[in-house]
Amino acid sequence: MKTLLLASALFAGLFVSLSAAPAPGTYHAFCRALWLFASPCAEINTKVAQQIQAFSLLAGCDECQYMLVSATPLSITANHTSLDGVQSENITFTFIPTVLTGGCRVSAQSTSQGFTSLFDNGLNYCNLYNLVAASGLTSEPGYMEMTNEWACLGYRQATCKD
Ligand SMILES: *[C@@H]1O[C@H](CO)[C@@H](O)[C@H](O)[C@H]1NC(C)=O
Ligand SMILES: *[C@@H]1O[C@H](CO)[C@@H](O)[C@H](O)[C@H]1NC(C)=O
Repeated sequence: MKTLLLASALFAGLFVSLSAAPAPGTYHAFCRALWLFASPCAEINTKVAQQIQAFSLLAGCDECQYMLVSATPLSITANHTSLDGVQSENITFTFIPTVLTGGCRVSAQSTSQGFTSLFDNGLNYCNLYNLVAASGLTSEPGYMEMTNEWACLGYRQATCKD
């Protein structure tokens, strides 16, 4: 019963925070996701920022081509450009400490800058997921991902390289 209550509280929280963020324009493909971790935000934040920088030094792969725009303990902004340079996406991560558990709740969003892609083939989801996977955060204690097709275009279809 406790587990069920906790799960529904988390689920309600997901939709509150997903709808609290300003909605991107109708024609910009986007993905919003929430990740939970048992580790403190400082540790998660550092890994995400380091991974963005590691990927920005590599060239010639879809997973690379990230650029860090700004990083503070509470948020990270970056962008990502496709190999052909045609598509680019804005990326933001927001870090919220979970007081009761000493963990971290990360709310992430990737939004296409162009107006073209109504179906993005999971591009925006993979922009976020590739960073989390490559930095080893998917095996971090307490790791949990929450999103769905309404919050994240192409989520079901996405096959990210990692
Ligand atoms: C990505 O961010 C970098 C650093 O702020 C900036 O120089 C670059 O113009 C941005 N690229 C796009 C496509 O927005
Ligand atoms: C992407 O970020 C740039 C620079 O911050 C901003 O000018 C632009 O409006 C953003 N585009 C979208 C679709 O959010």
